[in-house]
Amino acid sequence: MTLPCITPMTLADLDDIMPLERRVFKDPWTRRMYHTDLTDNYMATYLVLRPDPQGEPQPRLPRILGWGGFWLMVDEAHISTIAAHPDWRGCGLGQWLMVALMWAAQERGALHSTLEVRVSNTPARMLYEKLGYGVTGQRRRYYRDGEDGLIMTTPPLADAALQARLAAAYADALARAAGCIADPPGPAA
Ligand SMILES: CC(C)(COP(=O)(O)OP(=O)(O)OC[C@H]1O[C@@H](n2cnc3c(N)ncnc32)[C@H](O)[C@@H]1OP(=O)(O)O)[C@@H](O)C(=O)NCCC(=O)NCCS
Repeated sequence: MTLPCITPMTLADLDDIMPLERRVFKDPWTRRMYHTDLTDNYMATYLVLRPDPQGEPQPRLPRILGWGGFWLMVDEAHISTIAAHPDWRGCGLGQWLMVALMWAAQERGALHSTLEVRVSNTPARMLYEKLGYGVTGQRRRYYRDGEDGLIMTTPPLADAALQARLAAAYADALARAAGCIADPPGPAA
């Protein structure tokens, strides 16, 4: 069995991502938003989790298993979006991508990471807490439907305890993803 891989998002990925984006988010991004970030924003980094193109064919896997990105603002990586394929939740894919984003951010020079999350988004909040983010603020009516947003921030990304946590989460995510690929959760293709 070949595990998926993480690669930079390209414009060609948007045909697959946009329908998923609309399934997953209450306020989906437009294609133009991704297009601008991919072509005209040197601060932006976007990654996708996809079946390994070099691996054995895996017809039951969707072309995109997850996607996410961050904006590097001076020394802070602001996670701009993150999602796992809606038919492949609970398979460690969101965790895998988040760790990959945090490591990519560190490689680009980020010292910390921040993000905003809906107060009601328990799965995302739990994921972020697991990866070391803590609530550092609240923005009232941050979202278009009036829901409050929580601001979450990491300790220094270089912190040894945080790195140990990320390494453990990464290994856990890969093992869980392997289990799901061996026994897929979604409808058979
Ligand atoms: C948040 C999201 C990316 C998690 O991805 P996922 O692949 O389903 O999650 P994983 O299998 O990697 O789970 C990792 C951790 O996330 C948390 N988590 C995931 N699903 C959860 C759920 N239904 N309830 C509570 N916690 C959950 C847990 O901490 C979990 O670790 P654990 O199983 O050891 O407790 C996914 O739910 C998603 O795409 N949501 C829609 C988009 C979104 O809300 N993005 C965040 C915007 S701020």
